[in-house]
Amino acid sequence: MNLVVSKDFNILNGQIEIPSDKSLSHRAIIFSSLAKGKSVIYNFSKGKDPISSLNICKSLGVDIEQNDSVITVNSNGEFNKPSSALDCGNSGTTMRLMAGILAGQNFDSVLKGDESLSKRPMKRIVEPLSLMGADINSDSFHSPLNIRGANLHGINYESAIASAQVKSCVLLAGLFAQGATTYKEIYPSRNHTEIMLSNMGANITCDNNLVKIEKSELKPLNINICGDISSAAYFIVAGLIVPNSEIILKNIGLNPTRSGIIEVTQKMGGSIEILDQRNVCGELVGDVKVEYTQGLKGIEIGGEIIPALIDEIPVIALLATQCDGQTIIKDASDLRNKESDRIKTTVSELKKLGVNIKETADGMIIQGKTKLKGDVEVDSNKDHRLAMTLYVAGLICEKEISIKDFEWVNISFPEFLELFEKLK
Ligand code: S3P
Repeated sequence: MNLVVSKDFNILNGQIEIPSDKSLSHRAIIFSSLAKGKSVIYNFSKGKDPISSLNICKSLGVDIEQNDSVITVNSNGEFNKPSSALDCGNSGTTMRLMAGILAGQNFDSVLKGDESLSKRPMKRIVEPLSLMGADINSDSFHSPLNIRGANLHGINYESAIASAQVKSCVLLAGLFAQGATTYKEIYPSRNHTEIMLSNMGANITCDNNLVKIEKSELKPLNINICGDISSAAYFIVAGLIVPNSEIILKNIGLNPTRSGIIEVTQKMGGSIEILDQRNVCGELVGDVKVEYTQGLKGIEIGGEIIPALIDEIPVIALLATQCDGQTIIKDASDLRNKESDRIKTTVSELKKLGVNIKETADGMIIQGKTKLKGDVEVDSNKDHRLAMTLYVAGLICEKEISIKDFEWVNISFPEFLELFEKLK
């Protein structure tokens, strides 16, 4: 489906609640399926990715009831052999987390995914899992993954990449392994797995970038999932660049391992204020007030902050087009392994709008400030984050734009258009 975006409004104004966090939704449904007893998850995501995780847990024999965004899980704490291949759809998180669990079960299973997921690298999880004794077969480390249940043992693993999916995969395998598993990473990636497993009584400790886990029985979960900062990012950027806008985004997860976009936009000079910070189920949550800001400045973004804003880089690149001077985004080569090669696709689509942007091996360089042209078709590349970035770009283009395959937004954020309409 092509979506046409035009400047058919004056400003963005008002207050909205940002829907449920995708990362937390995956973890909540998967972990509560492993806990003996009744778990209740409030505000579960309506995105297709977390629903892939939910459906897989059902296929593994867990009793799951869904009442709008409230999910009730009744589990005996174990998975049963599935009758067919488990479909992860477009979701890397589903595939990588489930692989860690399935590797240590007493049955065989197959994880498969869509065209995009089948191109994404799985060596990063197959390697550590194999060191733990897992038996996983695949064609050149790509989906489908044929997993033979095995007896796992703990390892001490040092990862060269800061990836929460890899970390979570190894930690979850560690839950079923003999002996302790430790995991160390170069920079801290999102720590939702550690927080949630710890709340569920797992034998897990964290010390700087080192996590240690041992075989544990999980207690049921009762969680209210906060809003997704990665979804809020589109509204934060829109609020900053659409003239005279003023918006309040309610109930946003502000876990420091995720909130790099707040730090970066403030550094650029953006008017962003955090209101009513609180702790909800171990996660930092708050409301974010954003105001249109003139005179934003380009900055350099790289190093330790990258994992804390990895999914927001396409929309941060768009923001950089409205900053004076140069923005350099570096140390982000893993963007090439996302739902699309996000360095390539972000650069190619923003170029179509007249942006002065250059691809580098590990990021991009944007020269601002540029008036975006429009009167062109851009391509989401079947990547939800690119579809949403291009929509926000369309709000400030001189002429209308048409976004190809916009429906991929449903992977993480089906409520996206409705919420923008509320603010217009
Ligand atoms: C995620 C981790 C990140 C992120 C993805 C969700 C998670 O991936 O890009 O959207 O929920 O653990 P990597 O672990 O590959 O960096």
